[in-house]
Amino acid sequence: AGMVTLDPGFANTAACQSRITYIDGEAGILRYRGYPIQELAERSSFLEVAYLLIHGELPGPGELKDFSEQLRANAALPAEMRTMIDALPRDGHPMVLLGTAVNTMAAFYADTADPGDSAQVDRATMLLLAQLPTVAARIYRHTIGEEPLEPDHSLGYVEDFLRMTFGGRNGSAELDRLYARAMDLLLILHADHEQNCSTATVRVVGSSQAGLYGSVASGINALFGPLHGGANQAVLEMLEEIRDAGGDVDTYLSKVKDKESGTRLMGFGHRVYKNFDPRSKEIKELAAEILDRQDQPDELFELALRLEGRALADSYFTDRKLYPNVDFYSGVIYREMGFPTSMFTVLFALGRLPGWIAHWREQRLDPAARIARPRQLYVGPTQRSYAG
Ligand code: CMC
Repeated sequence: AGMVTLDPGFANTAACQSRITYIDGEAGILRYRGYPIQELAERSSFLEVAYLLIHGELPGPGELKDFSEQLRANAALPAEMRTMIDALPRDGHPMVLLGTAVNTMAAFYADTADPGDSAQVDRATMLLLAQLPTVAARIYRHTIGEEPLEPDHSLGYVEDFLRMTFGGRNGSAELDRLYARAMDLLLILHADHEQNCSTATVRVVGSSQAGLYGSVASGINALFGPLHGGANQAVLEMLEEIRDAGGDVDTYLSKVKDKESGTRLMGFGHRVYKNFDPRSKEIKELAAEILDRQDQPDELFELALRLEGRALADSYFTDRKLYPNVDFYSGVIYREMGFPTSMFTVLFALGRLPGWIAHWREQRLDPAARIARPRQLYVGPTQRSYAG
């Protein structure tokens, strides 16, 4: 096989050079375009981070205002696209509906779908960012049988997404603000993570010079899997299962450690982080802030804390360097905000969108980029005869 080496899951293969995101998995460091994730989480907004990832620099005040106004001005969906979403199966998973809707944007906006034309790529970038929240909220309301809510351009990006989703149900302006800030922070923390499965997918699809909409739709489908973005839904289902079985975390951990069971501790472990996922620390603090406002301790959050504590004291997990990842605590926050588990991965997609776009655009301009075409080591039969 000459130069070909076996590398399942591309664990040791760099498929590109990139200037977008830096991760040091041993040290638990994550930076977007050089800025530490903690600083961005504290000081910036999701739209600033989206701009940073896509354009390489933080926007100045005027640039941010223009960017934000353009996004808001483009938030409404064309009538045919609304009709199309409303005709999708109501009991379909929201991630399936989301991937479908984004794929059709190449048809609804055919005049922005040419990947060879920079102006069209810029327009597609704007439309995707502007409309994904509108699409996601419409899908949510469709699946619960509620009338859709149209965008209100006077509201901020995240505020309006929450309003289109829930219709301003929280009642108090203070709670609305808290949830909008929490949502914004969660989107920042999910915005990019270099060559993860969905981003690698976007790049692979884009490498054939397929368009941005189709590449992003492919990323959405990759994100849906339970080992990737689907883990946030799986974590909450796991916590509910433990609660319903009486809340015994040790019994559950025994099952996880028994390889025969096929059960994994969801929200734990990471291909790159062999230390705390820096995002999980931020999310844990946010969960504490949001859930500690209640009079009663939140049952599932308490359970997650206990589960984490027991796992981190267990050599099975420490020997394998398995720590909580980004998905371990995000679900309890989404649940508190009123999202059903089936929407969790959609929220991940809203956050990851600027990362997907940034990578697709980086690859498009990379003179070293080639079509993605991995090799294999053939282990099937040698030549045999049809007649024999
Ligand atoms: N629970 C129990 N054992 C685990 C887990 C876990 N969550 N994760 C890894 N292991 C074990 C695995 O069985 C293996 O053990 P051994 O060496 O005895 O065979 C060892 O740890 C190494 O695991 P691996 O499967 O080779 O690791 P990987 O890099 O291929 O997989 C992962 C990474 C994230 C898919 C995996 O850790 C996992 O399945 N975690 C649970 C799902 C999850 O939380 N995914 C979200 C990832 S972060 C955000 C995102 O991408 O969406």
